[in-house]
Amino acid sequence: MNILGIETTCDETGIAVVQNGTKILSNVVASSQNLHQKYGGIVPEVASREQLKVIIPALKESLSTSELEINNIDAVAVANGPGLIGSLLTGVETAKILAYAWNKPLIPVNHLIGHIYANWLEQTTAVDGRQSTIDFPAIALIVSGGHTDLIFMKDHQKYKWLGGTLDDAAGEAFDKIAKLLGLGYPGGPEIEKAASQRSDVKGQMSDIKFPRPMINSKNFDFSFSGLKTAVVNKVSQMSNVKRQRSAIAAEFQNAICDVLVKKSLRAAEKYNAKVIIIGGGVAANSQLRKSFQEIATKNNLKIFFPLKNLSIDNGAMIASAANYNFNPQPIEKVNANPSLYF
Ligand code: KG4
Ligand code: ZN
Repeated sequence: MNILGIETTCDETGIAVVQNGTKILSNVVASSQNLHQKYGGIVPEVASREQLKVIIPALKESLSTSELEINNIDAVAVANGPGLIGSLLTGVETAKILAYAWNKPLIPVNHLIGHIYANWLEQTTAVDGRQSTIDFPAIALIVSGGHTDLIFMKDHQKYKWLGGTLDDAAGEAFDKIAKLLGLGYPGGPEIEKAASQRSDVKGQMSDIKFPRPMINSKNFDFSFSGLKTAVVNKVSQMSNVKRQRSAIAAEFQNAICDVLVKKSLRAAEKYNAKVIIIGGGVAANSQLRKSFQEIATKNNLKIFFPLKNLSIDNGAMIASAANYNFNPQPIEKVNANPSLYF
């Protein structure tokens, strides 16, 4: 089955064609990230105007790269939330018009579920390199700019939400700390880069230690605002932040990774899952991949990360999710929902 997937929840316009949920025939992602850089965060109005500007060129390019005729496309899938309303409307209305004009089934997809399915695309290699299929039951960890959630997946279409962040999302914390340290936007890759230069200042800042909020709490909730405050306090006491920037970035990144790994592991133990699937923009983080890899063998777990370029928002993950959760809806019932949840 060939599915056209549309993803316009935030500042990316993603349009892809995916075969049988795994094979990418085309995957076009246009981003308005550079327009938001000077503001240090996303400006919703700017993002939605860009969506309108690029969606048709992205659609044309995606269709022509896939080399499929329209009659070989079997369904249209669209992320209908959660996200920014102005951005969502462009994708959702485009998908509805295409489904109507082409007379194809229309499948609305929860953006967060989409992030999980990035793992089915183009690979079935666990983080330790073992060729593998993704078996159930599984624990899914979603770590994006707006969300941090732990999900128990009994099977495709069978999700149970276990917990999530009580305040900032993991990606949001990366973005805010990057801004505080005078680094660019989006903050995740910037923090990662700064942290990788940690050896430059080795020994100088070994006293930098940040808390791991809620790491030992029995529930599956997260909180990153206390960590953020700890970094703010530390920075305000420093006379030369720039010199110690990489040490701060490294310890902050370690703190986030420690919490995410420990809580995912506890969820896997509780729910007897041998598989952990990670998705969302923060899944691109190399330290997070390394930290999960370390616990994989020790705990006999199979851990899956999407290919790095598929960790951030894209249409292919939406098409894949629609393939495994094939649930077409009448066109008039599909609407953008900024606060859609599980
Ligand atoms: O999933 P995504 O593309 O959009 C949302 O659905 O929010 O995630 C974007 C988030 C941003 O907060 C960004 O800083 C973070 O993912 N991110 C990273 C990395 N690359 C992107 N965080 C940590 N390390 C990275 N390499
Ligand atoms: Zn996302």
